[in-house]
Amino acid sequence: MENISNEPKPLDVLVLAAGLGTRMRSDLAKVLHRLDGRPLINHVCRAATALAPRKIYVVIGHQGEDVKKAVLEELDERHTEFVWQRQQLGTGDAVNAAREFLANEDSTLLVLSGDVPMIRAETLAALVQQHYNHRGRGAACTILSVKLDDPKGYGRIVRDDAGFFSRIVEQKDASEEERQIKEINSGIYCFNTQKLFSTLSSVRNDNAQGEYYLTDVPALLRDEGEGVSLYHHTDAREVAGINNRVELADLERILSRRTVSRMMLDYGVSFIDPKNAYVSEQASIGRDTVIYPNVSIEGETTVGDGCTIRQGTRITNSRIGHGVTILDNCVITDSEISNDCTVGPFAHLRGHAKMEEKSKVGNFVEMKKTILGRESKASHLTYLGDATVGEKTNIGAGTVTCNYDGVRKNATTIGNNVRIGSDTMLVAPVKIGDGAVTGAGSVVTKDVPPDSLVVGAPARVKKNFRDTENEKNESQAEGGAA
Ligand code: UD1
Ligand code: CA
Repeated sequence: MENISNEPKPLDVLVLAAGLGTRMRSDLAKVLHRLDGRPLINHVCRAATALAPRKIYVVIGHQGEDVKKAVLEELDERHTEFVWQRQQLGTGDAVNAAREFLANEDSTLLVLSGDVPMIRAETLAALVQQHYNHRGRGAACTILSVKLDDPKGYGRIVRDDAGFFSRIVEQKDASEEERQIKEINSGIYCFNTQKLFSTLSSVRNDNAQGEYYLTDVPALLRDEGEGVSLYHHTDAREVAGINNRVELADLERILSRRTVSRMMLDYGVSFIDPKNAYVSEQASIGRDTVIYPNVSIEGETTVGDGCTIRQGTRITNSRIGHGVTILDNCVITDSEISNDCTVGPFAHLRGHAKMEEKSKVGNFVEMKKTILGRESKASHLTYLGDATVGEKTNIGAGTVTCNYDGVRKNATTIGNNVRIGSDTMLVAPVKIGDGAVTGAGSVVTKDVPPDSLVVGAPARVKKNFRDTENEKNESQAEGGAA
């Protein structure tokens, strides 16, 4: 007969995230520590959402409000429920905190740990599938297990002589013989929701840690004649739980190496020193781009084709076009750089700075919330904040937009084909018209009309090119001497 699978029940997810994580030796709750720039809990939630569950319940406790905030950056509020566990009495107690929400649901419950961040949605889907298919009837509980060379610290899976599931024993409660077992409990399970909660009531805390262990539930179910299934997974790294900072750093490295390899093999990116480049899993980099040592590309950053990024630059949540050269030691956050631009060395772009095509930002230039127009240049020692600069304009060395009057941030608007002289102070709000020129060292406090030269401190209009031009033309028309 064909394999008759258990009629799938609606799927809910429960993420355990109330613990402090003592072994992190941190004031920050463990699940808020970051991997690839995102809190651990967000990685778990993202994998869970991919299964399109009915609802995701998150058990919170330590720094619960902060955990809630982090989770809501990842999940839709309408499909998320937070459950408080006021005292952390163990993983069994954590699940029990959700009793009032779940105990009577005719559903399947996928239980995840907030500190197992590498888990993939595909693996979870396979686990759920086996849970439904177990012996053609479905299981009451399916445990995701994995074999580890060094299983220390994890709960061990004890099998009976026939190789079927017998029980889970925690490291601290295990005998010398049981500690030799290499198959471990990943802390990821599928349960028949009602059976889980009815059995949970019988869990006691008479163990080495004096905690209510969720890991006691599968053996209790088995004793009641329920089906307990093991889903044995082969990629151990995926279910690695983070308990201390060494494990966190290991995963960070693994993740970045994996991303860098993928970029070299699949996207044709060159890394001069792949071991010393950090690239977020969320970033993308184009073909024939060359990345030098000690470059960090973080968050949702995209870099186009044929770019060069030199040593020591960090780029976070930014968009870089094609053919862009970014020289050494630049910091670029939340900004946009269009095709064929040059940046750095030692440049700082932040707060939605935007460089239009073929523009240039040089040494010790900072741009904040500023648009630098096509083919415009700010080559040395300049601060441009809350400014809009037109096309083909040159900003001289040492120029500062004085954008802050102590209360408000004010805007500076600079037109096309403008030449701002070295060391010009632009006291905002101020507008510089197209084709205007400021003399070296001018302090510009009033709008500058188009095509005029201003000088001095405070700068006053000295002449108007258009008028001079007109005078010249007029006198020429009159046949006068120039
Ligand atoms: C747990 C398992 C162990 C498994 C390992 C896999 C138990 C008793 N042991 O051990 O078999 O091999 O995970 O990574 O379950 N939490 C709460 N409230 C609590 C206690 C914990 O919400 O009262 C949360 C933690 O925040 C964490 C998760 O549950 O996200 C796991 O807790 P943790 O203390 O890390 O369990 P392990 O000792 O790793
Ligand atoms: Ca853990």
